[in-house]
Amino acid sequence: MKPVKVGLLGLGTVGGGTATVLSRNAEEIARRAGRGIVIDYAAALDTSNADQLGLTEARLSNNALEVVHDPDIDIVVELIGGYTLAKDLVMTAIENGKHVVTANKALIALHGNEIFAAAEEKNVMVAFEAGVAGGIPVIKAVREGLAANHIEWLAGIINGTGNFILTEMLEKGRDFADVLREAQELGYAEADPTFDVEGIDAAHKLTILSSLAFGIPLQFDKTYTEGIAGITAEDVTYAGELGYNIKHLGVARRTEQGIEQRVHPTMIPKRRLIANVNGVMNAVLVHGDAVGPTLYYGAGAGAEPTASAVVADIIDVVRAMTSDPNNRVPHLAFQPSTLADTPILSIDDVETAFYLRMRAADRPGVLADVTRILGDRDISIEAFIQKEPAAGEQDVDIIMLTQRVREGNMNEAIATIEALDTIDGNIARIRVESLG
Ligand code: HSE
Repeated sequence: MKPVKVGLLGLGTVGGGTATVLSRNAEEIARRAGRGIVIDYAAALDTSNADQLGLTEARLSNNALEVVHDPDIDIVVELIGGYTLAKDLVMTAIENGKHVVTANKALIALHGNEIFAAAEEKNVMVAFEAGVAGGIPVIKAVREGLAANHIEWLAGIINGTGNFILTEMLEKGRDFADVLREAQELGYAEADPTFDVEGIDAAHKLTILSSLAFGIPLQFDKTYTEGIAGITAEDVTYAGELGYNIKHLGVARRTEQGIEQRVHPTMIPKRRLIANVNGVMNAVLVHGDAVGPTLYYGAGAGAEPTASAVVADIIDVVRAMTSDPNNRVPHLAFQPSTLADTPILSIDDVETAFYLRMRAADRPGVLADVTRILGDRDISIEAFIQKEPAAGEQDVDIIMLTQRVREGNMNEAIATIEALDTIDGNIARIRVESLG
């Protein structure tokens, strides 16, 4: 049988890794796929590294449109990233009847509904395993391996750069900017690293996981997004004293009122495996009604780990190319006509426990005022630390862990406490998840 011809768009970190893995493992990949897979055409603004990547036989171009219009290409692999050009290329490839493999989570999270509708119309597949958690096959696990389950919730460390930064800061006391620079050099960070630091990259990935888990359309605009920039060394220390690690977590959960879809720094009990996932590693915990908790762990970024997912998708597409399009695995795990309109909850309606850190005057009655404000709103205190004032200081740090409370109520309580003239500055808050 003739080999399948791949058109590769992008020869950067992931594109380079994909070319390398496809050529290094060509023989085993062909045994798995049932036929050979070759990169027949590659496009990038700079193709000078093509020979070094083993693309000695491939046609090369600086114009990606030539690849998506080429009649010989069966599968377009989009690894250039971004929204606009990538979307045009993917939509054109679909229009031309080509299957698509992409690592572009931003593209899928924002435009996936439109892309999948076009693909279904044209009977082609769009595969995006590499978009979430790099080399971990978590999309396949949620979409196929757990297909028997009513998935109740999932929670994941899904940005390698953010986890790498938090880990290095915690373990080595390194400076934020210095660690970010290293993540960029190692090829972990997004082209725009604010996507990593501000939680946007994790929000793209969580949006995708939430749709796959609950059978809802992709709704990136409703994902509550908060990054790691506000985490201080003191919070890391106090969290540790209370038995928690701080991680940047994406959480998707079904409740009776709707679906929680949120990414933010989160305190997790140290005894949980996921609280000990460090460096660039990612992990996703998925809870199904039949299987119970399952945990998926591995490298969330980097050239070859991400290429591992890209190439697995290419193999999947090759295996299913001749299958009846009506019997393929649906893009979002559920048949498109059955996607639900379950509402996504506003963050004000989400219930979590909270860590609060405030700077208070060391005077009688201050603590009583704070606890009264919390008590008036039915907010119960679970644990409490007050430090002695440092020499020459009048103010002290007060740290509290509360029980679960609706976020809207907590916002009201925090605003009222901050208005006390005995409280200095803003109250730091971190959501707490037991993940039990
Ligand atoms: N910038 C991403 C991360 C790359 O750090 O996880 C993988 O999506």
